Amino acid sequence: MEKFKRTTVTSALPYANGPVHIGHLAGVYIPADIYVRYLRLKGEKVLFIGGSDEHGVPITIKARKEGVTPQDIVDRYHGIIKKSFEDFGISFDVYSRTSSKTHHDVASNFFKTLYDKGEFVEQTSEQYYDEEAKQFLADRYITGTCPHCKNEHAYGDQCEACGTSLSPLDLINPKSAISGSIPVLKETKHWYLPLDKHESWLRQWILESHKEWKPNVYGQCKSWLDMGLQPRAVSRDLDWGIPVPVDGAEGKVLYVWFDAPIGYISNTKELCDGNPQEYGKWETWWKDPETRLLHFIGKDNIVFHCIVFPSMLKAEGSYILPDNVPANEFLNLEGDKISTSRNWAVWLHEYLEDFPGKQDILRYVLTANAPETKDNDFTWKDFQARNNNELVAIFGNFVNRTLVLTQKYFEGKVPARGELTDYDKETLKEFVDVKHEVEKLLNVFRFRDAQKEAMNLARIGNKYLADTEPWKLAKTDMDRVATILNISLQITANLAIAFEPFLPFTSAKLRGFIHLPKFKWSELGSIDLLPAGHQTSTSELLFEKIEDDVMEAQVQKLLNTKKANELANYEPKPILENIAFDDFTKLDIRVGTVIDCQKVPKADKLLQFKIDDGLGGRTIVSGIAQHYKPEDLIGKQVCFIANLAPRKLKGIDSEGMILSAEDADGKLVVVSPTNGVKPGSEVK
Ligand code: 2FM
Ligand code: ZN
Repeated sequence: MEKFKRTTVTSALPYANGPVHIGHLAGVYIPADIYVRYLRLKGEKVLFIGGSDEHGVPITIKARKEGVTPQDIVDRYHGIIKKSFEDFGISFDVYSRTSSKTHHDVASNFFKTLYDKGEFVEQTSEQYYDEEAKQFLADRYITGTCPHCKNEHAYGDQCEACGTSLSPLDLINPKSAISGSIPVLKETKHWYLPLDKHESWLRQWILESHKEWKPNVYGQCKSWLDMGLQPRAVSRDLDWGIPVPVDGAEGKVLYVWFDAPIGYISNTKELCDGNPQEYGKWETWWKDPETRLLHFIGKDNIVFHCIVFPSMLKAEGSYILPDNVPANEFLNLEGDKISTSRNWAVWLHEYLEDFPGKQDILRYVLTANAPETKDNDFTWKDFQARNNNELVAIFGNFVNRTLVLTQKYFEGKVPARGELTDYDKETLKEFVDVKHEVEKLLNVFRFRDAQKEAMNLARIGNKYLADTEPWKLAKTDMDRVATILNISLQITANLAIAFEPFLPFTSAKLRGFIHLPKFKWSELGSIDLLPAGHQTSTSELLFEKIEDDVMEAQVQKLLNTKKANELANYEPKPILENIAFDDFTKLDIRVGTVIDCQKVPKADKLLQFKIDDGLGGRTIVSGIAQHYKPEDLIGKQVCFIANLAPRKLKGIDSEGMILSAEDADGKLVVVSPTNGVKPGSEVK
């Protein structure tokens, strides 16, 4: 920090078209919050800027679908998102929004400055226009056939089947995703930021001067730069957004990715102008070279924060550039990509309904599994294990034992320390080492390792208590018990400090137990945080065990989502070619009653049936063992093809085939007459 006097921390502005989920928290907001809390504890000057990103096409589409205005949509989600962040302790200094008047003015002026300086190029091109919806179509809202793999559902910017990047003009049979009509090409004028002109200073600035950036960030920038930068349009034909502030730009707004990052500046301005005494001038946070600018984002935002926004700032001329952009990769959920449209997510507001007051467990688990260098996976099993085996068994257990013993032997008062043994000294040295390690890791944005290291403090404490066994010494050597508990209480107070950035709710609770109202990061590692005679309280438990049934309910919720998605997206297979009636009559389909049904040994999928076919009975082997318990089928009627040539399956002669329907999720359901019929009845 020597070079800098203060830090401006921004975190990506989430789109206000849906609530926020665990992927948002893990990727951006928890790391940013940990870092900001750490700086504040160190007494550094820092501003933490957040807000909602309220422009862009998806918001207009959602509004159209619901028959409301885009403003209605963003009002709804801005409120939900803001509350979720507050609930999870994300400690923004300001959380505003890009539909605010301040932002419209700041972004508009920013554009105007660049325009007046001649920093844009104007270009007219042909773009697809939906005559029915009366609007130009964003690339995502044009679908058609991929010219490479012939997938009929490719998007105007990408084919998800073969992964090829596309331009809308590449699509065969383009269709508007808004109205379904065939779009026409129409000329339109836009303003472009000529990134190609910025390439050489960007190369120098990132590739030479910021080799310390995280490898995932540096690598992505390098590949963009190596591919060569192209001019990027910064305006769109749309009626939702910030009007382009120049003559002849009717019906055009600033591209959402042009205005959103300026939102960081607008929100800082809103905060500072509202309380200049406390925060000073907004310009100090954005223009003073002694200010350090950091952007916390997810990997899909790297190009905008490392290449496009810095080019905008540089073109404007009076701003500082980011010193670092600690972007994370993505978090998956139970092995699948998190998706808002497929509802495949753990939504923060829903989590809190199911786990009230347990924000810190999620904060802990998401940091422990943070996708810092590669994509990572959230599973409920891991959530439970980390809570039960780490938070409860290590952290909670140590604190609880320390406070209960202090209560028992010293009426809750911190006992005075006697002379330290070598073992005491070794323990104390270890926990000073922890402080240095946590700091080192936080300074380079390695939050998961930093939290692991902080947890070692509790591990050290637990081991200390287990090794010294004060409960055994209580009868013989109360002086020694006093020393052991004094040290354990100092470790407890250290835990409250070390965990404040990671688990702020737990830290506050713990501080309540030991009556430690004020503390600083520099006190971490001290063994004199709690003076002799200082009163502590009997504690409630810091963490509680989570039982299996609670986790099963969460997993079931996800399985229900999966099933609902499969049903919603189910498209029956196309009908096969016609056959002659004579061919149909060759099939002899009958109804039979299941007399016996058993699993076929050493075959996961097979069931062996004894069927009453009205003609003396027959054996059929069917591949439905993963869909039924054998005992559930006994007594049921099934339909089967009776004249299929017998086949041997796992050494059993199978005389026919039982008919099943395949559900959208691949589940097989046997076909059965709705009323009982005589075994052997023909199916016609
Ligand atoms: O990817 C997103 O969710 C964007 N709304 C992030 C914008 S970050 C910044 F530029 F505002
Ligand atoms: Zn394709």
